[in-house]
Amino acid sequence: MNMSDATIEEYVLSHIDKEPEVLSWLTRETHLRTLKPRMLSGHLQGRMLKMFCAMMSAKRILEIGTFTGYSAICMAEALPEDGELHTLEINDEMEEFLNEVFERSGMSEKIHLHIGDASRLIPQLEGQFDVVFMDGNKRHYSEYFDVVFPKLRLGGLLIADNTLWDGHVLEDSKDAQTVGVQKFNDKVFSDERVERVIVPVRDGMTLIRKIKE
Ligand SMILES: C[S@@+](CC[C@H](N)C(=O)[O-])C[C@H]1O[C@@H](n2cnc3c(N)ncnc32)[C@H](O)[C@@H]1O
Repeated sequence: MNMSDATIEEYVLSHIDKEPEVLSWLTRETHLRTLKPRMLSGHLQGRMLKMFCAMMSAKRILEIGTFTGYSAICMAEALPEDGELHTLEINDEMEEFLNEVFERSGMSEKIHLHIGDASRLIPQLEGQFDVVFMDGNKRHYSEYFDVVFPKLRLGGLLIADNTLWDGHVLEDSKDAQTVGVQKFNDKVFSDERVERVIVPVRDGMTLIRKIKE
């Protein structure tokens, strides 16, 4: 059976935790307001992100690529009262909307939005993180990995999204995003400081656990 089969997807979505109302609203708003609503994580992936953060008992989470805030809210749901999620977004046109979204989610106290380039912002962030969700520009995944690695605690989990890039990773391509994802996958595969597994859900999600500094 194929996960892309609409009926299977419908079955899965009707048998997993419900998407909170604020996220259904956000999905509709994202379709109305943005040109690429497909970038949003969505119901299944969002519940997975929340589950991973809860399983890690995460208190500090970092996200690269906020977009309209869907995944940030899902991960923040798993945080304890004193937990914090830092999310980085390069597009400053999203700032006002994101502040409204986080306010509406009731989690604005826990969610810290930073506008700017992740590669420049990450070295300035203090402390370490239990979970990092990497979902920015695919061309720069290897660069993000290098800069974020020291910020991930030992035993921490880095989740990289879109690592199958709609199957394009199998192609001999010159497309910069495809090449970026391929290089990242090769880099992670040969890095002995981590354990890694690619989960072929949606567009591919790599789970990377830090086992050595
Ligand atoms: C796929 S979307 C993120 C989707 C979001 N995580 C979700 O699941 O709902 C990627 C986002 O990364 C942002 N982005 C791209 N390059 C970035 C960078 N260097 N630093 C921070 N954000 C970046 C884009 O503007 C875009 O909003």
